Amino acid sequence: MSPARSASVAVLGATGLVGREMIRRLERRGFPIGRLLPLASRRDGRSVRYSGESIPVEAATPERLADVDLVLSSAGGEVSRALLPDAAARGAICVDNTSAFRLRPDVPLVVPEVNGHRLDGLRIGGEGAIVANPNCSTIQLVLAVAPLHERATVRRIVVSTYQSISGAGARAVESFREASRDHLDDASADSGSDALAFDVRPDIGGVAADGDSVEERKMILETPKILDAEVAVDATCVRVPVVRGHAESVWIETAEPLSPEEARATLSRAPGVRLADGGSGAVTPRGVEGTDPVHVGRIRGSRVAGRALQLWVVADNLLKGAALNAVQIAERIVGVAPEGREIDVATERCVG
Ligand SMILES: NC(=O)c1ccc[n+]([C@@H]2O[C@H](COP(=O)([O-])OP(=O)(O)OC[C@H]3O[C@@H](n4cnc5c(N)ncnc54)[C@H](OP(=O)(O)O)[C@@H]3O)[C@@H](O)[C@H]2O)c1
Repeated sequence: MSPARSASVAVLGATGLVGREMIRRLERRGFPIGRLLPLASRRDGRSVRYSGESIPVEAATPERLADVDLVLSSAGGEVSRALLPDAAARGAICVDNTSAFRLRPDVPLVVPEVNGHRLDGLRIGGEGAIVANPNCSTIQLVLAVAPLHERATVRRIVVSTYQSISGAGARAVESFREASRDHLDDASADSGSDALAFDVRPDIGGVAADGDSVEERKMILETPKILDAEVAVDATCVRVPVVRGHAESVWIETAEPLSPEEARATLSRAPGVRLADGGSGAVTPRGVEGTDPVHVGRIRGSRVAGRALQLWVVADNLLKGAALNAVQIAERIVGVAPEGREIDVATERCVG
């Protein structure tokens, strides 16, 4: 791990939901930034606030990324594919929030508390690289399941998600709010099924010929890459009319016995996890909005299989599901959150 030094940081997608949170987290966590470069689709007079300053947003081009140390990217897969390989070839470390590179064998897919060792050897001023941030639903799933896997070897996971609208970006949130108002005024108003007012959708990203949706495919393939290639996953991903925060109903089967009490004790010590009311709590997306940890409650046994547990897992998709995880990756690379340190969930600062 290299010692911390100030980095020049480009935030690609700086005006979006994830980009704005990344800039806030960089500032709140005291990330050592020498120069911040907020980038979006165009330069049109917009600016972002950082450290008491107003910094103009510029158009993202290969030239703008030519001399930055670190790129935090959340401008969609197409933009990442167009810009990041070149930036990495020029020596930048690129932390990508999109699905563009997640499954490439040469690209680490990282949740720092789970497989942060995949970042070993990466440093500012060394060789450039692309590091992928997992899908938001995958991040909260693996953070809750990894400590149980370490304790009792998880073999199978069945997960159903309840994913908020903000997972689909700023425009989706706007359409949802508008459609909800229209629907309250006139229940027969047709706002289009995509707007999700008073409805749920089980086909996020579209359903492929094999029957899985694009979002489900991400969880099914990303989870074993992070956790263990032997873990099998079935997923049903559902968009629900909630603005922010994803919830998951998770069923796991383990090779060794693991009681709900043992699972609670294990998760109570797990970094980045907070037990809701000692594991019995019905935590909700609105209840955890703006918080860093992944919250786990409703820990129960199973009637379907002997060595199985049920969990309820909730997190802020824009924070641990995206911006916070990306910033934590950057912290490890720059050297401000060394191995073994945890983030204090109350102060959101590194401790220990
Ligand atoms: N939202 C989540 O919970 C979440 C979680 C994990 C991963 N992600 C991923 O993160 C990415 C961004 O998500 P988001 O929710 O922040 O979306 P968003 O609110 O729609 O923001 C998109 C951002 O990308 C920029 N952008 C769009 N086209 C561009 C282009 N051609 N060149 C440069 N910048 C461009 C936009 O800039 P303008 O303002 O100029 O249009 C905006 O800053 C997506 O790939 C998403 O899958 C999102």
